[in-house]
Amino acid sequence: MSGDDSAGAADSAARLTLEQKASLTSGSDFWHTQPVEEADVPAIMMADGPTGLRKQAGEPGLSLGMGKSVPATCFPTATSLGSSWDPDLVERVAAAIAREARAEGVSVILAPGVNIKRSPLCGRNFEYLSEDPYLSGELGLAFVRGLQAEGVGASVKHFAANNAETDRMRVSADVDERTLHEIYLAAFERVVTAGDPWTVMASYNKVNGTYATENAWLLREVLRDTWGFDGVVVSDWGAVHDRVAALRGGTDLAMPPFGDDEVVVEAVRGGTLEEGVLDEAVRRVLALVDRAGEAAEANTHTLDPHALAREAAVAGSVLLKNEPVGGAPLLPLSESAEVVVVGELARTPRFQGSGSSRVNPTRVDVPLDALRETWGDDVPFAAGYTLDGSPEEDRALRAEAVEAARGGRTVVCLLGLPESYESEGYDRNHLDLPPAQVELVQELVAVNPRVVVVLANGGIVTPVAWSREVPALLETWLAGQAVGSAIAEVLSGRAEPTGRLAETIPFRLEDTPAFLDFPGHLGHSRYGEGVFVGYRYYDVKRIPPAYPFGHGLGYTTFSQGDLSVEVTGSGDEVRASVSVTVTNTGGRTGTDVVQVYVSDLDSPVARPERELKGFAKVTLEPGASERVELELGPRAFAYWHPVLRRWVVEPGTFTVSVGASAADLRRSVTVTVEGTEIRTPLTPQSTVAEWEADPVGGPLLASAFGARGAELKANPMAAEVPLDVLVGLAGFPRENIDALVEAAGGADTSDDDAQDDGAQDDGA
Ligand code: BGC
Repeated sequence: MSGDDSAGAADSAARLTLEQKASLTSGSDFWHTQPVEEADVPAIMMADGPTGLRKQAGEPGLSLGMGKSVPATCFPTATSLGSSWDPDLVERVAAAIAREARAEGVSVILAPGVNIKRSPLCGRNFEYLSEDPYLSGELGLAFVRGLQAEGVGASVKHFAANNAETDRMRVSADVDERTLHEIYLAAFERVVTAGDPWTVMASYNKVNGTYATENAWLLREVLRDTWGFDGVVVSDWGAVHDRVAALRGGTDLAMPPFGDDEVVVEAVRGGTLEEGVLDEAVRRVLALVDRAGEAAEANTHTLDPHALAREAAVAGSVLLKNEPVGGAPLLPLSESAEVVVVGELARTPRFQGSGSSRVNPTRVDVPLDALRETWGDDVPFAAGYTLDGSPEEDRALRAEAVEAARGGRTVVCLLGLPESYESEGYDRNHLDLPPAQVELVQELVAVNPRVVVVLANGGIVTPVAWSREVPALLETWLAGQAVGSAIAEVLSGRAEPTGRLAETIPFRLEDTPAFLDFPGHLGHSRYGEGVFVGYRYYDVKRIPPAYPFGHGLGYTTFSQGDLSVEVTGSGDEVRASVSVTVTNTGGRTGTDVVQVYVSDLDSPVARPERELKGFAKVTLEPGASERVELELGPRAFAYWHPVLRRWVVEPGTFTVSVGASAADLRRSVTVTVEGTEIRTPLTPQSTVAEWEADPVGGPLLASAFGARGAELKANPMAAEVPLDVLVGLAGFPRENIDALVEAAGGADTSDDDAQDDGAQDDGA
């Protein structure tokens, strides 16, 4: 926030009555902040959301704010944007959303959603970017930059640990602090510290027992004090239960209004809420209103947003599988191919999710029409199944489709999840396609080997038995209003699908990391898998996924070679320059996504085997090579220390790998990092082993024991005994312990000597 905004806001705040100030900490209606005419404070409008502008026209009433909205471009959902691995594209999409918002007088867009896809069962995963915090953070940041560069504020949501829809308005996400920092807060941290979002949205759920909107640890200690956030914390819609507790906890703006401003007034008058706390919230809301007012005049639409929606849909499509049928990979299909289209979703596409992100699209490219534009108006079509699942009808449609598939045409079969299978507001309970679709595809491949399956779903589906015989599988997610033309572009090869999985596709629900604890029980969701979310879990458990994180094919092939990693600095200042040569080894121009993973080979805490720490998307002509350079900062090596309660880079060896997915590492280099020597404070409860391992405590303990030290060392049971227990077990004088603790004091010294590391490519 600029200094001017807050100075102006402070002046205005000083002129307001207590009642006016209280009113500013909630809205005037479902979407607007409260205006104060006497003080020249206008109202500003907020609107969803992550897929496009959803500006509501009428009164929300019982529709829970889900009424009809003004027409706007419906871009691909976050699940597709996440799969693009393309910050530049995400930024352009957000900028286009912002331009439509500005033209409609909307100042803040309630997006992006950077919650981690903890379980594929979350009904709202289509609104989130990835299972990985680094990827979510980079793409979330790009979204915020795109919006705010056009003068529209972002609302980064849902802060925090809102990873399920079941009981979302009450459940307590019970997560240890390290897991919060490394997994569930990391993307928010990146966006807040690098993107200066105008607002952050506090989620409905509780975090470790306290509502996010009242959680001073979350909103004050972490968000404001540690990350330096000075924008507005707005509640999710209806997430404030107690206005006073929310203000105290750090929520500035409670939305929508519940007509309870007098509660705040009375609390200040009665001395239960410090007026300074209210003033701070008011200052921030006023600064937000100023910011919105200062943004330049609305831009006219300078680009073709529908074309951008198509470009994004192509970039987010993931070609999971493309096997040869009769010699060559089935895709792309030549424009002279004989094609038959199967699947109700080709005629009635599903291209966005349900709930608050729903957009009223300006137009829709229907896949069947777009496919006929390429392969001819006479392309036959068979619905194959119904979307509402009526078994009799499904059987008849299936028989018809199988007949149509006989006779050698290539079958383009659109499958996916019907709308009722996934939505904001509830979770899924399995990962399967509807049974009628599974039966259909099995019968199709039995009569025709040339079947291309095109999937449309927000959360993943498990490609179990049904996909084994399917040679080509294209995942398009919920691809936005240009869905149809994007599919035609990709299948024909006029465009290459350049998406990569932003989440792992497992074989079975039982294999998923949160299987035992999702969505939780009796008001609590225990994040028992800790930091082992997504590929971090499959890796360490040696569970082969159906398709790994980062996977995705194109229409050409690439090699990655000659990796070099140059480490400079140390500890919190460590950096690594990674460079690798990418070569297009195939016969077409294509795009590769280089992924950099870092592994800590030796750590006192259980760390994932590898974590994504960098990526780059490169497009090359056949035979061309490019040297791709990526910079890693200290966070690429750090973990969040649960005792010291901060990020640390410890000294030691790390492996830096590049590859085409988390399971396809092409090159690796081992480097030595001069980290910070970690000393955790020694206490009377520290064990003999911990004392002995400490460079200061070890010698102190040895001299305190004197001659008995040898006896202690010789006893294998002694190592795990805390010093204070030795008082009873071995008659060690209590005063000696206190003296030792004092002498050992000053834990956490650092050794920051820089040492560069000349690393060599040792292959993978
Ligand atoms: C959703 C938010 C949304 C808000 C306003 C809530 O139910 O969780 O994501 O921005 O409604 O529509």
